Amino acid sequence: MYHYGLDISATFAASGGYAEIYAWVCRNLHSTVHFRRVQQNLVVIKDRGILDEIPKYHPYSQMLKNAPMAILVCGDEQLQKYKGYWVQDCSAATENILIAAQAKGLGAVWLGVYPTEDRVIAIRKLLGIPEHVIPFSLISIGYPAEQKPRSDRYDASRIHRNKW
Ligand SMILES: Cc1cc2nc3c(=O)[nH]c(=O)nc-3n(C[C@H](O)[C@H](O)[C@H](O)COP(=O)(O)O)c2cc1C
Repeated sequence: MYHYGLDISATFAASGGYAEIYAWVCRNLHSTVHFRRVQQNLVVIKDRGILDEIPKYHPYSQMLKNAPMAILVCGDEQLQKYKGYWVQDCSAATENILIAAQAKGLGAVWLGVYPTEDRVIAIRKLLGIPEHVIPFSLISIGYPAEQKPRSDRYDASRIHRNKW
């Protein structure tokens, strides 16, 4: 089954090793980056030293110290066909990876990078990313340590019908 370009049909043993997650992401990268207008680049990060380094620059990414891997979704100004739309495309790619990870029984968290400039600069430097490529979001992936109850923030007053 394809879910927005990411093949989630491969089966994971719930107790499987993290190498399995890595292999799955690598197998599916081609379909993920093929998504829409192929503007995104992904950096799959498995190196323990790099994962441990990121929380020094990104204050809300402490879970990376325990995560076996992360995926950095990047926009690419040289690849964009429709100027400015790379943000929406990267957001959709990020969400698709989160959904696919969830469907596999994995835990995944969106860690915001762009447009916080010091995070963009630090991550670009840490990973050797060229200037025309914009680190957009990091997705921390692992087996979830806990299941949090869904929070209900629905506010009917924010839904407008036909006109505001
Ligand atoms: C644009 C964006 C940036 C986020 N950045 C972070 C982050 O830096 N650190 C973090 O732990 N979670 C981050 N999150 C995840 C949220 O904290 C939260 O886990 C997610 O939105 C789902 O929360 P909810 O189910 O309570 O709505 C981010 C989410 C979004 C959409």
